[in-house]
Amino acid sequence: MITPQQKELVQKTWVMVVPIADTAAELFYGRLFELEPEYKKMFKNDMTEQGKKLMKTINIAVEALDDVEPLVPVLKKMGADHAGYGVKERDYNVVGAALLWTLEKGLGDAFTDEVKNAWGAVYELLASVMKSGAAEAEQAA
Ligand code: HEM
Repeated sequence: MITPQQKELVQKTWVMVVPIADTAAELFYGRLFELEPEYKKMFKNDMTEQGKKLMKTINIAVEALDDVEPLVPVLKKMGADHAGYGVKERDYNVVGAALLWTLEKGLGDAFTDEVKNAWGAVYELLASVMKSGAAEAEQAA
């Protein structure tokens, strides 16, 4: 569950990341591949483009926090697509860790424990819907 206060913290801190989105994306993938060098070969496309897609998706999610329901089918489809890229459930933990690390670097002192927990809750929400979409697609197949 995401509290109204957590929503506000995420939305307030995301505004600080948007102007440095390209750098943040670079930091994110750098950290991700440091944690799991194996992931490099899963990414077939240009990493700058990939970074933009990632940031755009987070942006949409952050803006939709007041009413996530309409996003659920989109996220489920993304989760099923990700299973097709070879993404497994445990990989979501690694990506979550790389995301929080990136926010810590990008936000500096603004990355308080509350902010960390709020972003953790938002990521958990996105990841859980994506994973459920992957599981449903697998069952249907
Ligand atoms: C909340 C979590 C995540 C978000 C918001 C996200 C976002 C995206 C987006 C927007 C794309 C572009 C294509 C598409 O929409 O399918 C993408 C592709 C991809 N993502 Fe994710 N992703 C997440 C989790 C993960 C995880 C856990 C992995 C595991 C390593 C991963 C690996 C990939 C790969 C391999 C591609 C395809 C790259 C390619 O075709 O070159 N993603 N992701």
